[in-house]
Amino acid sequence: MKENVTRRNFLATAGIAAVAATTVSTFAAESGGGKTLKLLGISCSPRKGMTTAKAVQAALDAAKGLDARIQVELIDLGGLNIAGWSPTPPQDDFTAILPKLQDPAVAGLIIGSPSYFRSLSALTKAFIERCAPLREPKMLLDGKPVGVIATGAFRNGGQELVIEQIQTAMLCFGMIPVGGRPPAFQGGTVLSTKDDISGDELGLGTARNTGLRVADLALRLTQ
Ligand SMILES: Cc1cc2nc3c(=O)[nH]c(=O)nc-3n(C[C@H](O)[C@H](O)[C@H](O)COP(=O)(O)O)c2cc1C
Repeated sequence: MKENVTRRNFLATAGIAAVAATTVSTFAAESGGGKTLKLLGISCSPRKGMTTAKAVQAALDAAKGLDARIQVELIDLGGLNIAGWSPTPPQDDFTAILPKLQDPAVAGLIIGSPSYFRSLSALTKAFIERCAPLREPKMLLDGKPVGVIATGAFRNGGQELVIEQIQTAMLCFGMIPVGGRPPAFQGGTVLSTKDDISGDELGLGTARNTGLRVADLALRLTQ
């Protein structure tokens, strides 16, 4: 039974983490060697290691569990100094991050932002603007999947709007925005209660499903 599970039918049923946990070893065994696919998670909250970073990490962990070829890295922008685009490129912390994004092994992104007044954070916007070198002279992210996760202090705090804003921006990079499987239609929508998301199993499930969807599409695109 377990040996018959494919990535496709796994994703069709992957609404809960327990399913991922029981099938990870099967995928790892199936995949064998092959090209390494790197998925970068970018947490765009000014607060390092807080709920957005944790939600993105949950998505990365789920993605990594899907196949042995998947490698993941969290880039937490919390506490970093990153200005928006300007005609004279700012000398700030983005300089150290750009090479990670330019790595040809990058097969997809998972971007996380807190909902700030039902919009993406200024740090997310600054990060995306500074990614302009990934478009010219070459569209380095073209055809790669991007999943988005938004955290908020309210269940309907604008998370889906934030996701849509980020997905729309990433279309300019030629990326393929993905949602997840039900109940993650738009992406990861996570509720923070007093800076804690551990009790939001539904929301964490949407984050994991978004990670799985990014990983699954990245794998399909390499076949
Ligand atoms: C300036 C500001 C505006 C906020 N606006 C919203 C909002 O519109 N909707 C919402 O659900 N939460 C809102 N929040 C709460 C944050 O989205 C929430 O605490 C989030 O989990 C923070 O992410 P972090 O823990 O990674 O910093 C706001 C917080 C701040 C600081």
